[in-house]
Amino acid sequence: MRTLTKIIIVSIAVAFIAVKWSTPSFEPESLRGARVLVTGASTGIGEQMAYHYARFGAQIVITGRKEKMLQQVVDKCLSLGAQKALYIAADMATESEPDKVVDFSLEQLGGLDYLVLNHIGSTPFSMWKGDIEHIRWLMKVNFYSYVQMAWRALPSLEQNKGSLVIVSSLAGKISTPLSAPYVATKSALNGFFGSLQHELAMTNSNVSLSVCSLGLIDTESAMNKIKGILTNIAASPASEAALRIIQTGATRQAELYYPWDVFYMVFFKDWIPSLTNYYTRSLFNYKP
Ligand SMILES: NC(=O)c1ccc[n+]([C@@H]2O[C@H](COP(=O)([O-])OP(=O)(O)OC[C@H]3O[C@@H](n4cnc5c(N)ncnc54)[C@H](OP(=O)(O)O)[C@@H]3O)[C@@H](O)[C@H]2O)c1
Repeated sequence: MRTLTKIIIVSIAVAFIAVKWSTPSFEPESLRGARVLVTGASTGIGEQMAYHYARFGAQIVITGRKEKMLQQVVDKCLSLGAQKALYIAADMATESEPDKVVDFSLEQLGGLDYLVLNHIGSTPFSMWKGDIEHIRWLMKVNFYSYVQMAWRALPSLEQNKGSLVIVSSLAGKISTPLSAPYVATKSALNGFFGSLQHELAMTNSNVSLSVCSLGLIDTESAMNKIKGILTNIAASPASEAALRIIQTGATRQAELYYPWDVFYMVFFKDWIPSLTNYYTRSLFNYKP
C-alpha cells in the first residue's frame, strides 16, 4: 500500500511538472489588435474576460441579452484600452441569433481571431423535478448555440489561424447533484468539442480549440445559487479564471483545468469512482 501511495504521488508530481514544462509562455502582445468575440459578457467571467482583452489592446465584440449592462461593459473596455469595443444584444435561445452575432462580429471587425463561447442560461440549483421543457431550452442556450456559432465562425478562424475557446465546467467531466440539466449541457459540450478537436487535428486545421473546465468561481450568479448548499468549498476569483481562459486560448492549449484541483478530481474519477462520488456528495449541505 505504501509503495502504491508513493507511486501515485510521484506520478502526480511528474505529470504536474511535465504539463508546466510543456506549456508555451503567454505573450500579452499577441493580443494587441486581436479580433475577439466573447459571449455572455454582460456579467461574471465573460465580463472579466472583456476587461482583460481590453487591457491587452484587443478589438472586442461582446454579447448577452441586457443592453444596458453590455453598454456599461463596452464603455469600461474602451477606457481600459480596447482598440475597439462593441456589443450586440441577442438571446441564444432564439435560433437565428447565434448566426446574427457571428455575422455582426465578422462584419464589424473584418474577421475573427478568437471566438470565446461562455454564456449560459439560468437554471435552478435543485433536484430535478421532471421539467423536460427546461432541459430543451437550456440545451438551446448552452449547447446548440455554441455549435451553431462555432460552425459559422470556423471559416474566418481557419483563415486567420484563430482560436475557438469553449468555457465548460468540472460538471462537464463529473456529474454533480442538484444540477442535472446544467450537467447535461456541459457534458454535451465536452463530448462535441472533444470530437471536433480530433477532426481539426486530423484535417491539419489552422484552428486551435480549447475546452476550459472550471471549478467553482465567485461570480454573483454562482454565489447566489449555491448559498447554504455548497458551503465546504472555496470559490476562485472570476478575474483570475478569466485571465487563465484567455491565456489558454492565446497559447493554443487543448485544455484548461482551473483551479488546479479540478484536474485531480477528473484524474481520480475513473481510478476511484466511489471515493470521488462520496467526496462530491459530501460537499453538498442537502437535507431532504
Ligand atoms: N461561476 C462558476 O462557478 C462556474 C463554474 C464552472 C463553469 N462556469 C462557466 O463559466 C461560464 C460563465 O459563468 P458565470 O458564472 O460568469 O455566468 P453568469 O455570471 O451567470 O453570466 C452568464 C452570461 O450569459 C448571458 N446569458 C444568460 N442567458 C442568456 C441567453 N439566453 N442568451 C444570451 N446570453 C445569455 C448573461 O447575460 P444576460 O443576462 O445579459 O443575457 C451573462 O452575460 C459559463 O459557461 C459557466 O458554465 C462557471
